[in-house]
Amino acid sequence: MTRTTLATTMAAAGLFAAAGSPIATAGGHVDGDCTLKTPRDAMTYEDAGAVYDCLADAMAEGYAEGPKRWIPKDFVTGYRDWTLASTLPADPGAHGGRFLLTYVNEVGAAEYLKFADEGVAMPAGSVIAKESFTVADDGKAKPGPLFLMQKAEAGASPRTGDWYYMAVQTNGTPMAVNVYTACNACHSAYEDSDYLAYPEEGVRASAD
Ligand code: HEC
Repeated sequence: MTRTTLATTMAAAGLFAAAGSPIATAGGHVDGDCTLKTPRDAMTYEDAGAVYDCLADAMAEGYAEGPKRWIPKDFVTGYRDWTLASTLPADPGAHGGRFLLTYVNEVGAAEYLKFADEGVAMPAGSVIAKESFTVADDGKAKPGPLFLMQKAEAGASPRTGDWYYMAVQTNGTPMAVNVYTACNACHSAYEDSDYLAYPEEGVRASAD
């Protein structure tokens, strides 16, 4: 097979990211206003990728707006430069049926990208950002909150495995939630993997 036909085949299979996008979007179907054109229940990963590609700039601008109060601002303005841990946005059912895309900062990337089930010890200073969006039954897509986890020094927060949980609304306002009940209660089920749940297996990025 020549290089051209291989590239064409891979593009058709959605294996190449569109220019400017970190994820595969080829073959996805969206309108100019980010509305999904295929039926919602037949939506593919590539469709989700195309929706994300359409929403991505507006999402980042929205999260970055306004004061961040207790949330370190550079997490919110800088996470797109971190390592992308998922190849496509996936719909796992948790996080309110939202499509999710996960980024990990330099401190945590190597350990996170092992996607290990046990013996995981994320280094202090690791930060993970998870973007979200929803697609309604009629295909209309909307940004959702940005979810953040920061690994603190050992002993800083024993109740949460030393994780700090934070979330930012689509308009940039920090979300005032009780992180014990709203975040930690669910994440503590993943204690063996240092409270990490990871993206769905089919959309995990490789460590190289
Ligand atoms: C009902 C269970 C549940 C609740 C509640 C929950 N999460 Fe999660 N979280 C998950 C699951 C499952 C994943 C992996 C999903 C995926 O990427 O497909 C995840 C992933 C994450 C990640 C990426 C790191 C990882 O675990 O792989 C962050 C960051 C995150 N959640 C933050 C939060 C914050 C902040 C809150 C509270 C506002 C919260 N979560 C509430 C289940 C939950």
